[in-house]
Amino acid sequence: LRQKYIDLIAGASDEAALEALRVQAVGKKGEVSLKMRELGKMTPEERKSAGPALNALKDGINSALAGKKAALADAALDERLKSEWLDVTLPGRPQRRGTIHPVSQVTEEVTAIFADMGFAVAEGPQVETAWYNFDALNIPGHHPARAEMDTFYMAGDSDEPHVLRTHTSPVQIRSMQQRGAPIRTISPGRVYRSDYDQTHTPMFHQVEGLAIDRDISMANLKWVLEEFFSAYFGTKVKTRFRASHFPFTEPSAEVDIQCSWQDGTLKVGEGDGWLEVLGSGMVHPHVLRSGGIDPDQWQGFAFGMGIDRIAMLKYGIPDLRAFFDSDLRWLRHYGFAA
Ligand code: PHE
Repeated sequence: LRQKYIDLIAGASDEAALEALRVQAVGKKGEVSLKMRELGKMTPEERKSAGPALNALKDGINSALAGKKAALADAALDERLKSEWLDVTLPGRPQRRGTIHPVSQVTEEVTAIFADMGFAVAEGPQVETAWYNFDALNIPGHHPARAEMDTFYMAGDSDEPHVLRTHTSPVQIRSMQQRGAPIRTISPGRVYRSDYDQTHTPMFHQVEGLAIDRDISMANLKWVLEEFFSAYFGTKVKTRFRASHFPFTEPSAEVDIQCSWQDGTLKVGEGDGWLEVLGSGMVHPHVLRSGGIDPDQWQGFAFGMGIDRIAMLKYGIPDLRAFFDSDLRWLRHYGFAA
């Protein structure tokens, strides 16, 4: 009987078969259990030898059952491990993460530096009326500046002619109208001119600065700009003001920053070279009036700077057009994408 069950148990293919064998052998009505019940009908002599033998039989079967049960569980685990096996030496799948475009990075940086100096961000529309883009800025219809700016005019027959703004200066007027004086705003955004070469794209970015109060002067402008460039380039940067002309400022100045060429790379804040980076001046009285501000009470400065231009300077990028090609290899080369 013992050998019969040992063999059956060894041959059991799963836990259900094993359980059936357990019931069949040592269950309540199992073969071994029935034999044990017969002990009661035996003589004491017979019982003395049969009792221990039956107990040993029962123990033997129970331990065979337990052993087989453990073996089946082991086999099941092995099976699972085989199918769920993971090769931790395989290279990972690359995850390409999006990044902030360099022009956006620089825009954020520029506005943050000016924000530290108390300038608030003010924005205006990219499709602008000719009045805001030109007339309000003291550029009347016949003025040559309109032609010089290579303006994109919007098609349409509305009474108000619209243009793609050629500069961020119209935001000066909108800020004055919305906020009144005193005022300190910084206005980044896209501007458009029909122009295309290594340093010009038909869409580019400017940032406009405007500060109006009782006695703001060109000296304040110079301090603010030197403070800005030094923070932006991370080194003390001198500026040079050259007399210039813009219809919306009087007097007007073009501003250069100190730089030099060393082994074919441009170093800002060193040497005795100069590079033009922005236009500026004292806001023209006509412009203050367009914005609803009394020029007898208030005065201030304005400047307009090319964002892409100062981004090119900071990262040593020679061709502006590459900014807008969306070429991942280029973005990665300059560390702008992962
Ligand atoms: N709007 C001028 C330009 O686009 C720059 C400028 C802004 C000049 C403000 C003076 C004052 O060239």
